[in-house]
Amino acid sequence: MERISIKLRRTEDRSYEILIGNGILRNIPLDLKEANIAYTYAIITDSKVASLYGKEMLKEFLNSGLKAHLISFPEGEENKNRETKAKIEDEMLSLKMARDSAIIALGGGVVGDLAGFVAATYNRGIPYVQVPTTLVASVDSSIGGKTGVDTVYGKNLIGAFYQPWRVYIDVSTLRTLPKNHIQEGLSEVIKYGVIRDGELFEFLEKHIDKVFSLDTEVITYIIKRSCQIKGEVVELDEKESNLRKILNFGHTVGHAIEKLYNFKISHGKAISIGMIIEGKIAVELGLWDKNELNRLILLLKAAGLPTKPSKTLDANDMIKTMKLDKKAREGKIEMVFPEKIGEMAMINGSYGIKVEDDLIYRILKET
Ligand SMILES: NC(=O)c1ccc[n+]([C@@H]2O[C@H](COP(=O)([O-])OP(=O)(O)OC[C@H]3O[C@@H](n4cnc5c(N)ncnc54)[C@H](O)[C@@H]3O)[C@@H](O)[C@H]2O)c1
Ligand SMILES: [Zn+2]
Repeated sequence: MERISIKLRRTEDRSYEILIGNGILRNIPLDLKEANIAYTYAIITDSKVASLYGKEMLKEFLNSGLKAHLISFPEGEENKNRETKAKIEDEMLSLKMARDSAIIALGGGVVGDLAGFVAATYNRGIPYVQVPTTLVASVDSSIGGKTGVDTVYGKNLIGAFYQPWRVYIDVSTLRTLPKNHIQEGLSEVIKYGVIRDGELFEFLEKHIDKVFSLDTEVITYIIKRSCQIKGEVVELDEKESNLRKILNFGHTVGHAIEKLYNFKISHGKAISIGMIIEGKIAVELGLWDKNELNRLILLLKAAGLPTKPSKTLDANDMIKTMKLDKKAREGKIEMVFPEKIGEMAMINGSYGIKVEDDLIYRILKET
């Protein structure tokens, strides 16, 4: 037998910058031109964002002397699938876009995940730029490099870790976003406060009204802090072996709620309820102070987010669903818990903490 070893050590630098500002969409073409990252650009977006910002962006690209195409697909989570991915790829292929192309993912998380995944596999990988236009995308999905699509077997099951070349967050695009979508993003921002930044949490307690009036300074601050927090956590643990798990606060219970509601409840609402239930478990375990849990409940209420499920959830079904989740370890449900606002508890070096079914059952019954 002959044995040949192929040595591949990863030393590649995939660092990137996130630029946040008011009205910065129009700087993108010139920046890209200067950096000379590609010969042709595919601006990938959904049907809604295409008419709001996509057509204008295409014009700006062409006016700057760049070669660009606008490719859009019908808006909505149900289109974040392999069929849409294939259609976009075929359109790019028919436009003869080659390895010297790049993708601009202009839109919410659906566009970012899908276009990022196209970039990861098109010609074995081409650069892409995230241009989030929802609060969820600005504070969550555009950072961290998780890209992918849904299947009938579950959400985000097919995908890749693929980092963008740069992220541009133009806060002025949030002006056209419906209020309930601001709440969706806020749910994650409040989570960042709990898991890593007590000051951000206090800031939200004081300025929640200004978040809803989209005060430029306030919105820029919360997006900046959220990006820093997610960025920092992902830098330290890109593939979720320990620290990255703290981003899942509220999500173990939240995901189960989403499933039992057949996804008729939004993600932000489900994790709002999830954070409270997981928070109650943390208090029961003696890890967290009840007064701090109450502050969380008040803040979520002030943000107009639900603190209880609208229909009774069967505790047994919830536990069964949580066990099917990829976060369950050795049959036991694992969660992350706050120790104080701004800091998560660690037991034996691990943020993921296994919880007995009985305790979860009891808290769910009380909720
Ligand atoms: N990759 C990750 O790490 C990560 C993290 C969180 C969420 N996600 C994914 O993100 C997706 C949810 O993202 P989302 O909440 O942004 O949803 P979305 O992309 O579906 O956008 C919500 C709606 O708002 C519209 N829209 C977008 N920008 C707008 C604007 N500026 N003005 C008016 N309307 C606008 C869209 O057309 C859509 O109808 C889910 O698929 C989720 O799985 C991914
Ligand atoms: Zn989330």
